[in-house]
Amino acid sequence: MNREQKTLSSLLAIEVSPGGEHSVSRQITAEFISTWKAAHADGNVIVKDLAANPVPHLDAEAIFAGYTPEDSRSTGMVAKHAYRHELIKEITGVDEIVISTPMWNWSVPSVLKAYIDQIIIPGTLDGSGADGLKGKKVTFVVAQGGSYAEGAPRHGWDYEIGYLKLVATALGATDVEVILAELTLAGQVPGMEALVPKKEASIAAALEAARKRAA
Ligand SMILES: Cc1cc2nc3c(=O)[nH]c(=O)nc-3n(C[C@H](O)[C@H](O)[C@H](O)COP(=O)(O)O)c2cc1C
Repeated sequence: MNREQKTLSSLLAIEVSPGGEHSVSRQITAEFISTWKAAHADGNVIVKDLAANPVPHLDAEAIFAGYTPEDSRSTGMVAKHAYRHELIKEITGVDEIVISTPMWNWSVPSVLKAYIDQIIIPGTLDGSGADGLKGKKVTFVVAQGGSYAEGAPRHGWDYEIGYLKLVATALGATDVEVILAELTLAGQVPGMEALVPKKEASIAAALEAARKRAA
């Protein structure tokens, strides 16, 4: 075994993009996972594909189960509450988490928001001391069609990255990194042709950052 290989770690990789082989966020996450596997000889990777298997939005039964005494819960409440606890067990049971997502309408796709809403339960995993992500390494891989960098016309329109960082830190993580590929629509959307070199440089930098982070 390579001396640098780390053993007995676990990684939860959450995919959000429905873009399949065209997805930039998935391409970067694939690089992250393969580097991670090479570095963790006996590591266990759980891939959770929210595009293929979306989590449901919270409904009344799921929400009110937590406020209803156990012996008074309906069958639906019991099942939905148990489902949320399974999701929490999954994410708090690993050492590392990588969440790979596009930007949609200046924020996260709703399936990722639904996942976040499912896993945050007051007193179990929350932003008020139930810090189940404490000690975990959390990486976000984000693909954005445009750019929201300083100086860009839409600087300040990004309600995705700050939000994702907030979620991870509120739940206790301190080792949080965002790997960003921007301008991914250059070459596809009329008017962005001149930005193709910047897009390519951004994707190359994101792939390199993924290799470095996962090693
Ligand atoms: C429904 C939808 C909404 C989008 N909204 C934005 C947006 O607000 N800002 C942006 O920069 N790109 C936006 N895009 C472009 C995606 O962020 C971009 O194509 C990204 O590469 C998608 O990630 P993926 O390649 O991993 O699928 C949007 C794309 C779709 C399909």
